[in-house]
Amino acid sequence: MQILLTEEELREGVAKMATSISECYANNPLTIVGILTGSVVLMADMIRLLEMPLRVGVLQARSYQGATTTRGPLIINDELMPDIEGREVLLLDDIFDTGRTLKEVEARIRRFSPATVRSAVLLYKEGRQEVEMVPDFIGFKIPDEFVVGYGLDYEDAYRNLPYLAVLEEEDLQST
Ligand code: IMP
Ligand code: MG
Repeated sequence: MQILLTEEELREGVAKMATSISECYANNPLTIVGILTGSVVLMADMIRLLEMPLRVGVLQARSYQGATTTRGPLIINDELMPDIEGREVLLLDDIFDTGRTLKEVEARIRRFSPATVRSAVLLYKEGRQEVEMVPDFIGFKIPDEFVVGYGLDYEDAYRNLPYLAVLEEEDLQST
């Protein structure tokens, strides 16, 4: 596996994003909603850098898929979401690829009548977008490669790598 972003680079990128988020919301109460499972590592690092009154929620978005990159319909489970009516909400996800996940999740979130909804992603894969939406906060723009680590998985493996790596053909064969 080839390392794309080291632990140090990830830390700096997350800190920069946290600064932008803090500037945006100042000291106003914020509800961060992490999209499971890919955002767990980012979430843990991000919330500890934010100082406004903060609530944390999660929802799960999953597309049933066979091969690595083909996708089925998106399943959104919002049963664990806190009450967000009238609140400022920031959606947090690991990666913005086609953008379909975040777009659908945002539409679902809006049904609960939050005051505002913005979105933050660690990674933005260049040249892949299929929707109009652009995340409000982006950690890193990366080339169109399949990446794992720092929460991102290949068939639920590799989420625990502390760095971000490009999954190569030979890695696929060995799993
Ligand atoms: P989108 O709906 O196409 O934007 O895809 C978003 C979801 O696809 C992410 O939350 C990830 O779970 C998954 N995904 C997209 N690209 C990658 C990748 O390079 N590595 C791991 N997961 C990915
Ligand atoms: Mg995933």
